[in-house]
Amino acid sequence: MEPGKPSRTALATAFLRALHRVVDDAPPVFDDSHAVHLLPAVQARFLERLARLPRSWTAIYRQRYNGLTGMRSHVVVRARYAEDALAGARQRGAMRYVVLAAGLDTYALRTRGMADAMPVVEIDHPATQTWKRQLLAGRGLDEAAVRWAPVDFERTGIESALGQEPLHQFVSWLGTTYYLSREAIAATLSSLARCSAPGSELVLDYWREPPLFDPAAVLLWGTRVATAFQREPMRSFFTPGAMEALVVRCGWHVREHCAPLIQDERYLTGRRDGLSIPSFAYLLHLERGTTDPLA
Ligand SMILES: C[S@@+](CC[C@H](N)C(=O)[O-])C[C@H]1O[C@@H](n2cnc3c(N)ncnc32)[C@H](O)[C@@H]1O
Repeated sequence: MEPGKPSRTALATAFLRALHRVVDDAPPVFDDSHAVHLLPAVQARFLERLARLPRSWTAIYRQRYNGLTGMRSHVVVRARYAEDALAGARQRGAMRYVVLAAGLDTYALRTRGMADAMPVVEIDHPATQTWKRQLLAGRGLDEAAVRWAPVDFERTGIESALGQEPLHQFVSWLGTTYYLSREAIAATLSSLARCSAPGSELVLDYWREPPLFDPAAVLLWGTRVATAFQREPMRSFFTPGAMEALVVRCGWHVREHCAPLIQDERYLTGRRDGLSIPSFAYLLHLERGTTDPLA
């Protein structure tokens, strides 16, 4: 990330979640009713106008081979997957929700004031977190329900943010591994394992470099160029085997390894809006094991 500057890709993913509610078929895969409130006025106005157009005029957004459709599918399905897993983890005893690299995540906003709202800790790069807090304050949105913890994963572990005593918790870590060095990913996974009680759960996504003959390679290259221009270059890709080996080395067990086709089948079957998961986007649902992390 550009030194001292908030993440621009965090804004991009919030925009995609808001766009999903406007252009795709109902019901939404992931209903982020609050993302639009965090967008710049010009983007919010654009979405408002788009919503007023006859549906046939926005058909281009729903074309399967439109890159925006692929990225939007990935962003909304990974958010849905994490919050579905969170619901299960609560039943299994998780006591708080830690949102790693939260960006403009709105879980705390969507659940504030609810009797059964889960305590939320948001961890993010200091510059992004300061920007988000300013956005919330500027829009009169209550930020009191969140415990804020600024951390740069490339520099420090997260024990100081979460406390030394391991808690039974649920953690999501979305849209981030590809922007980090392999060392920072391993250090964060290990550090997270140390402050998570056995049974704690973690959902993360990672990207695999597709072969050149795969149409998704074009989308990935376009995204790499776009994020590099935004000063958030992509740095780490994994094969499923390499990622599994890494998480196990860092103290986690695999509950589910969710390949793109499984995501398509579970969340997008029967939809007519062209949403489809790019073949490089994998999801992992992990559980804290009882062994000590080695990495
Ligand atoms: C694409 S956004 C994802 C935001 C959110 N999780 C989502 O899915 O919409 C990437 C996030 O990674 C965070 N990030 C990138 N590099 C980081 C670092 N070195 N330390 C902490 N956070 C970092 C950014 O601040 C940003 O919030």
